[in-house]
Amino acid sequence: MATVKLTNVKKVYDNKVVAVHDFNLDIADKEFIVFVGPSGCGKSTTLRMIAGLEEISDGIVEIDGEVVNDLQPKDRHIAMVFQNYALYPHLTVFENMAFSLRLKKYPQKEVYERVTKAAEILGITEYLTRKPRALSGGQRQRVAIGRAMVRDSKVFLMDEPLSNLDAKLRNQMRAEIILLRQRIDTTFIYVTHDQTEAMTLGDRIVIMKDGYIMQVGTPTEVFEMPDNLFVAEFIGAPKMNTFKTDLLYENGKYYVTPFGAKIEVDGYKGEKLAEMNVKPQEIILGVRPEHIVLAKAGGENAIKCTIEVNEMMGSEVHLHVKTESGERLIVRVPTINLSFEEREALIYGAKVYITFEGKVMHFFDKEKEHNLLIKREESTSQDEEDYSLE
Ligand SMILES: Nc1ncnc2c1ncn2[C@@H]1O[C@H](COP(=O)(O)OP(=O)(O)O)[C@@H](O)[C@H]1O
Ligand SMILES: [Mg+2]
Repeated sequence: MATVKLTNVKKVYDNKVVAVHDFNLDIADKEFIVFVGPSGCGKSTTLRMIAGLEEISDGIVEIDGEVVNDLQPKDRHIAMVFQNYALYPHLTVFENMAFSLRLKKYPQKEVYERVTKAAEILGITEYLTRKPRALSGGQRQRVAIGRAMVRDSKVFLMDEPLSNLDAKLRNQMRAEIILLRQRIDTTFIYVTHDQTEAMTLGDRIVIMKDGYIMQVGTPTEVFEMPDNLFVAEFIGAPKMNTFKTDLLYENGKYYVTPFGAKIEVDGYKGEKLAEMNVKPQEIILGVRPEHIVLAKAGGENAIKCTIEVNEMMGSEVHLHVKTESGERLIVRVPTINLSFEEREALIYGAKVYITFEGKVMHFFDKEKEHNLLIKREESTSQDEEDYSLE
């Protein structure tokens, strides 16, 4: 059992820099939680407060129901893996992993058993007698994880453990962390600035910005129903296209009017707008690059664009296009349904027509930038006018 609970947790550095504002989160036993957000948003600070490496300015941190605010790091039963591994260069891999057990005067036999078992899980048995300098980055990272594994930790904290690795190794280690998680059945809190890592590793993701939580949800939830424009643009790559447009309501139907088109918001998104009683207004519309499709010239709701950049990725091509009104959009086009000639025609300066459907649209308030399909507590008298009953 290892739950972690943060209640109104705040961090102020030097009485002036508020690094974390009012952080509230309930982490379940054995859950894999990822804190993600741009550099400086307070991820490491929050993790370090949980670990006991940073004083908590305000609020409560509980591990397994016990308030740990005043406990030393060593008494919190947590294990932490850092970005820079922090291995002892003069010790072998075995002794690096055994270090904390030796400090605690574990019997020799138990040290041996714990280290060899962790090494086996991590696939580093053959390197146990080597020094860290004789290992690759990925192998060093595994030793750092192994060192954390040998202890009786209730919670595993990892701060950007893969960010020093090259792209290929990072993908490989990401898969290994998923396997590791299946083998060491414990609670994980993982910090990264990389949305792909967050999406692929997390049971739930905590998206942060400027010391505030912007959304907490499963990867599917934050991708399909981003709470606000920040989350919408942060999750997903290439990032969601967002632009101002009018939301209209005519004869019981909603429409948007991007770049001269008039597209009905059909399907469940339209139903949801009606259910939420969203008033016609200028909005920020969001459409993911993979949800825009090529259309025929002159076809219904075909938006004319010019190709500015063509990034051929093999199975898909990323087109950076410009609308006639000068808006720049990114379109991900799968190449499988295109003929060779059609693919070759997607070049700089070529005209293409694009369109998208109601079900792929995301609607944001143009000032507050929140998702108009998510219920808010505050409501103004204007919101109460009933447009869906016209
Ligand atoms: N020891 C410190 N003293 C003062 N400010 C700090 C300290 N550590 C971090 N900060 C500030 O707190 C904010 C959050 O930092 P951090 O938690 O490291 O962000 P992240 O890990 O998300 O990149 C930043 O504005 C950073 O400059
Ligand atoms: Mg950090």
